[in-house]
Amino acid sequence: MTTATKVRPQTMADKADRHLLYQASVQNPDFELDFIDSTFKKIRARKPASMREDFAGTAISSCQWVKRRKNNTAVAVDFDAEVLAWSRKHNIAKLTTEQQQRLELIEDDVRTVVTDKVDILQAYNFSYWFFQERATMLAYFRRTREALVDDGLLFLDVFGGSECYQTQKEKRKVDGFKYIWEQAEFNAITNELKCHIHFHFPDKSKLKKAFSYTWRVWGARELREILAEAGYSESIVYRQKFDPKTDEALDDYIATDDAEDYACWLGYIIAKP
Ligand SMILES: C[S@@+](CC[C@H](N)C(=O)[O-])C[C@H]1O[C@@H](n2cnc3c(N)ncnc32)[C@H](O)[C@@H]1O
Repeated sequence: MTTATKVRPQTMADKADRHLLYQASVQNPDFELDFIDSTFKKIRARKPASMREDFAGTAISSCQWVKRRKNNTAVAVDFDAEVLAWSRKHNIAKLTTEQQQRLELIEDDVRTVVTDKVDILQAYNFSYWFFQERATMLAYFRRTREALVDDGLLFLDVFGGSECYQTQKEKRKVDGFKYIWEQAEFNAITNELKCHIHFHFPDKSKLKKAFSYTWRVWGARELREILAEAGYSESIVYRQKFDPKTDEALDDYIATDDAEDYACWLGYIIAKP
């Protein structure tokens, strides 16, 4: 007598690719590169060409950058071999050979990597908040400054508001799945925040903790002080605008040192060497 093993049909979660889901729900490289391009031109009165993407993950921003202009170059740094291999297979393979020649993937730690000087260094999606000690952040900012040409710019993102300092879940519908951002634990003494990204699918299957991060919630003011200590001559905060009638967050950022007591605001810090 044979025993038939029941094969469970694969769910949407089983078949999902977490990096594709991340790119579709978290990232908007074209919007970010438009902001980088226009802000750089406004501040430096020239077009940027060379970019380094720290904490690059799938390096989607670098791929979009080399597609933008024929003389654009990108260096994408991440210390995770798995995500870089994914990038080669799924993102870089879609570029032309000529575009691929203008993009370099480096498997290394952003705290120690040495690269040629670039016009733009971007560290996005708050990954530099992995660095929890002030001394580590200072050393990292010093390294980024050394990696920039004299009229280059550092682009960081930042968020603030009372909701940073609490546990909460935020759900958003994306094409074909739900994205869930969970702030699972917050330590009100150390400012350490443990977060997860989960994905839920129409067949009720779930990809729990597809990504997990432990960050220190840094304030814009203290980050600017550390940037100054690292030798940056000036830093500018670009804060998300809100609709004055509905309080709805807009896809528009203004250079300002002012923010009301928003529950949550997103922004960028741009620093000049
Ligand atoms: C949240 S992903 C960021 C992806 C992308 N930059 C974005 O904007 O969404 C964080 C990435 O940072 C990488 N990472 C974390 N610490 C790092 C370090 N010290 N050096 C290099 N890469 C690091 C991880 O391997 C991971 O791929």
